[in-house]
Amino acid sequence: MFQTEQQTIEARIKAFCTANGIPLSVLEWKPIPFSGEWGMSTSFFAVAAAEARLGKKIDVAQRAQEIAEQVQSQVSGVPGLSHAEAVKGYLNLFFDTQEYTRRVVETVLDQKDRFGSGPATGQRVMIEFSHPNTHKAFHVGHLRGTILGDAICRILEFAGYDVVRANYPGDMGLHVIKWLWGYLKFHNGEEPSADITKWMGEIYAEASKRLEEDPDLETEVRSVYARWDKREPQIVALWERTREWSLEGFRQMYAALDVRFDVYYFNSQEEKSGKEIVEELVRRGIATDERSQGGAVIVKIDEVLGLAKEQFHTAVVLRSDGTALYATEDLALALHKFSDYPDLAKSLYLVDVRQSLHFTQIFKILEIAGHEQARKSGHISYELVTLPGNVVMSSREGTVVLLEDLLREATTRARAEAHKKNPSLTEAQLESVAKAVGLGALKYPMLARENTKMVTFDWKTALDFNGQASPYIQYAHVRCNSILRKAGVDITNLPPSAFDHSLEPAEVELIDWLSRFPSEVQRAAAEYKPLAIANIAYNTAKAFAGFYDACPVVQASPEIRAARLRMVAAVKQTLANSLALLGITAPEVM
Ligand code: ARG
Repeated sequence: MFQTEQQTIEARIKAFCTANGIPLSVLEWKPIPFSGEWGMSTSFFAVAAAEARLGKKIDVAQRAQEIAEQVQSQVSGVPGLSHAEAVKGYLNLFFDTQEYTRRVVETVLDQKDRFGSGPATGQRVMIEFSHPNTHKAFHVGHLRGTILGDAICRILEFAGYDVVRANYPGDMGLHVIKWLWGYLKFHNGEEPSADITKWMGEIYAEASKRLEEDPDLETEVRSVYARWDKREPQIVALWERTREWSLEGFRQMYAALDVRFDVYYFNSQEEKSGKEIVEELVRRGIATDERSQGGAVIVKIDEVLGLAKEQFHTAVVLRSDGTALYATEDLALALHKFSDYPDLAKSLYLVDVRQSLHFTQIFKILEIAGHEQARKSGHISYELVTLPGNVVMSSREGTVVLLEDLLREATTRARAEAHKKNPSLTEAQLESVAKAVGLGALKYPMLARENTKMVTFDWKTALDFNGQASPYIQYAHVRCNSILRKAGVDITNLPPSAFDHSLEPAEVELIDWLSRFPSEVQRAAAEYKPLAIANIAYNTAKAFAGFYDACPVVQASPEIRAARLRMVAAVKQTLANSLALLGITAPEVM
């Protein structure tokens, strides 16, 4: 916001230091935490220490303060600054509050939907997320990974990365064989209509239940597996057809959630190269083949690394019967991603916390085998979702909440709430509000929590118009919109305002949140943490509510009115930008 001034100041400080033989190399600025005034500060300890190293007999702290004081006199009179102070070796510069306010508002209005975005980093990052299993249901647990992954991608893109969104559906494995058996035995010839994923999940659940009731049926399942193993055309064709049903169901759900992918990988396609990698590991003595003794192929990672203490444990990389495991396929997948995208700076997997050890092992094994790409691969873990009363989701106990049901319920509930709040909405408006608010209610709770903490999902909190929830933030956006509409002026035709009225504390607080948005975007990107955006969106909405109560806009005197209208437009834009990063629609009315 004050780049030009910062450059002027740095130039003056450097010129002063050069003229006086002070060995200053770099100046690092940090924002001063807001306390009624904004500012930035830098310190002179490093340069004082450098002088000491050059042989000067000095007290570093005292010398730092001395330099700060000398430099202070150099920076006075720079426009936009209100005052400077030298304290304990630091130089603190304070911005003129009205000038700062003006710049924040004008920057937002100038950059519009790019406000908060970062410069292109030139780095490409792959995020793999969602990865549901075909032939199974999609429940609220998968929802968290899907929503979180989507938000992380949006944030990274906005922060300046080139993002590749990858999906990796589990399309083959024992669960699929079980499904095929259940279908052939109890539902042969049937086809899904609406709610495909739910229907697929029901067949899977039924197959599991029947097998539990009568374990003798396992022999039939094994024979389906044998037929698959021989690639019997009928079974392969059935697998292909039914797999496509699931994939179509997923596509429909992603469309409903407004989530997209750039590339799909499938575990069935990693089987063969996974086995080849394992063979190579055995040949090179990294993996131990215990199959002749009835065991599996394993990698004793700690032993291979010569570690005395257990750290990576032993990984099983191929079954005793030679069939591929989840791990076999992940060894191949990790390399496959880099052969498709050789310039990936990072290849990240957003998978729940239960798989932490699995990924540590996969990447370590590849690293041992000399695949340097593995060092660029990493796991971002997240915790599970529970229901109120500590009910953990389980398909066997019927406590799974399916996405189809959840989406419908969200829209119905949001519709009722919206109608109650604003009975004058037309049918068409009500419909789009219900969609926006319903989806926001599902997404926000998944994001407004540390990734590594459990989410407890309940409707009351999710649809709260008064607390930290999506409808509250969306409503703030709508309010901004209605103020601007009522004012009846086109904000883009108003000249920039001076903001030379005496600013109310509520205005200053609001500006503080707006000005923090760009750095929160960077932080959220660096830490893969949509929570930072969920929080600032809420805090901005809350500060806006404070402003709305304390500061008349339309009724204010003409000059204040113009300035505040621009401020409201800037709030509206910032709220819209932050909601967009969370994948939530910012409605114009509700
Ligand atoms: N489909 C797997 C599951 O449901 C998750 C896949 C995670 N990604 C991976 N590359 N292993 O557990």
